[in-house]
This record gives sequence, C-alpha cells and structure tokens, in this order.
Amino acid sequence: MDDLDKIKQNYLNSISTASSLDDLEQIRIKGLGKKGEVTSLMKAIGSMEESERRVKAPKLNFLKTEIIEEIEKKKLLITEENINKRISVEWLDVSRPSRPSQMGKIHPISQVTEEVVEIFSNLGFSIAEGPQIESDWYNFDALNIPPEHPARQEFDTFYVDSNPDSGSPPHVLRTHTSPVQIRHMEKENGVPCRIIVPGKVFRSDYDQTHTPMFNQLEGLAIDKDLTMSHLKWTLEEFCRAFFEVEDLELRFRSSHFPFTEPSAEVDIRCSWEDGILKLGQGESWLEILGSGMVHPKVLTACNVDSNCYQGFAFGMGIDRLAMLKYGIPDLRSFFEGDVRWLDHYGFDPLNIPSTNSGLR
Ligand code: PHE
Repeated sequence: MDDLDKIKQNYLNSISTASSLDDLEQIRIKGLGKKGEVTSLMKAIGSMEESERRVKAPKLNFLKTEIIEEIEKKKLLITEENINKRISVEWLDVSRPSRPSQMGKIHPISQVTEEVVEIFSNLGFSIAEGPQIESDWYNFDALNIPPEHPARQEFDTFYVDSNPDSGSPPHVLRTHTSPVQIRHMEKENGVPCRIIVPGKVFRSDYDQTHTPMFNQLEGLAIDKDLTMSHLKWTLEEFCRAFFEVEDLELRFRSSHFPFTEPSAEVDIRCSWEDGILKLGQGESWLEILGSGMVHPKVLTACNVDSNCYQGFAFGMGIDRLAMLKYGIPDLRSFFEGDVRWLDHYGFDPLNIPSTNSGLR
C-alpha cells in the first residue's frame, strides 16, 4: 500500500499548491479523468484476485473520494480568494458625480407634430397618410383645380419625369396635403370621417419663410350635418390649446380655395412690440391657416353624394406653427441639421406632449 500512500501524498501536495481553478482541473484529469492514474488503477480491480481486491478496492475508492473532496475544498478557497482580490481592486466611488452625457433632442417639427396630433386626437380625429409623389389627378383635378386653373401656377409645382408617350400628365411632388382628402373619401366607408394628415409637401420656393420642402397638417371632417360653425369651434379649440392662450381670438377672413366653398383664412389676434410677438392681445392679426366647407365637386370626385354629405377642411403649416409658438425666426434653420441649433431649440425626448400638462 506504500504505492497508494505515495500517490495520495502527491495529489494532496499538488492540490494544496494549486493556484487556479484551471490547475485544479488539470489535477483532477490527471488522477480521475478517463485515462487518469487512479482511474486506471480502479479499472484493474476487475482482474484482481478476490483476496487482493477485497483489500485494494475500498482503499482505491477511499483515495478517489479523498482526492475529490480535497479538490472541492481547494476550489472554494480559490474562488473566495478570487472574489476578495476583485473586491480589493474593483471598487467604485458611488459618490462621484457622473460624467456629463449628451442626450439627443427632439426636433421642433416632431414636437409640434406630436402636440397637434395630441390635440386633434382629443377632439376625435384620427391620422391618415398619403404618398409624397402624387398624380396630377389627386393633387389638382380631384380638388377642383383643372389644368388651366390659375391656382396651379400659385403652387410652384415640382414635376416628376414622365414618359411623354404615356399620354397622361407627369406626376408631381405633392404641393399640399389636400390630396389625402381625396384618397381617404374615395375609400369604401371613407365617409363619414374625421381625419388629420400631417406630412411633407413641396413647392419651388426659398427664402426666410419658405423652403422647397415643408410640413403641413390637413384636417377633414365629413358627415351629414356639419356646418361652418363646427369648423369654427374646432379651430378655436385647437388654437387655444396649441398656443396655450385661454381666450385667444380668431378672425375668419373670407378667402378662396378651389376645393372649399365658402373658404376662409384664419388669423389670430396678436401684437408686435419691439420685435416681440405676443399672441392673444393687441391690434394685429396673423394668418395661420386656410379652411372652408368642402366643395361639392370634390365630394363628387370621390363618389360621395354631396346631397347627403358635407363637411369642412383646413390646412396649416406645421413649421410655421412651430416658428410662432417657439419664437424661431428662420424657417431654413429647421432643415440645416445644425446640432447646436437643435440643442437650443430642441425638446427633451422624455417630455411627451399631452393636453394635461399644457403640452410641454
Ligand atoms: N391646401 C391648402 C394650401 O396648401 C390649404 C387648405 C386646405 C385650404 C384645406 C382649405 C382647406 O394652401
């Protein structure tokens, strides 16, 4: 048995001097792995004489158990040592101030779009959308703007290349969100409806208050008994909530759009003093949107019976609303992608507009 004692001593020595879990695993494999030293000895038990086996088998089993136990003990020790080592180096001073982190900002157009959508949702409107490349029919004809109509010139339209042999007029980049009125009403169950359409529109124009791409919000309400007073009430409610001025006064000024009759442009009361604009007081008026009762010809173009249905529509510039509400002087700055500008005029992403919080 001297041999077994020696083997045991060897293992106990190497276990006690092992310094890592890897070392321990190597020792285990060397002794107890498939081809390990102790494993081979145990395999030989089968071929031993009965008398020899009786003595050796229990000793070998005992040796095996002892090695396993020692390895486990040492494992615990090493793990604990490792943890203590890490605790001593990996400390953290939780009282230190955090590094300044740069948080992105929400663009004023996104912010205002959300504000506007929130207000109209509360009034029972839902969102509709349409394509930015539009056919001549949807952008003009169906809206009662036939080819020779002077309004076509006012729009400074961008035309899309077309096949001259096709016989049909070229598509356009939509000049307003009004074509979505048509797309919505011509759908099955398109009326009655209450929809708003936020979206990009395009006109060839560029100065401090015009950019070739800008954002509009269209509104459309169709039912059997809607009148101009519903239009008036809706826009008043909207403007008061949006500009956060309780008694904001609106002026409906007679106007003309081919797709509404009668038509009105809407101004809000304001004052300009020392270059500062104040809404809701003063003697000036600021135009903010176009509106009117949907023209019967537009309803007919959508196969809606104009003897049965009627309603109102309005359209406003989202960018313009943003400029007015947040005092942003130049429309072009919206689209220049200057991060410093966004940092100044942008909004906290965690601050979601709601009418309960005054939208901010
Ligand atoms: N589409 C018109 C424009 O872009 C605005 C408008 C919409 C006017 C709906 C009346 C009704 O100028």
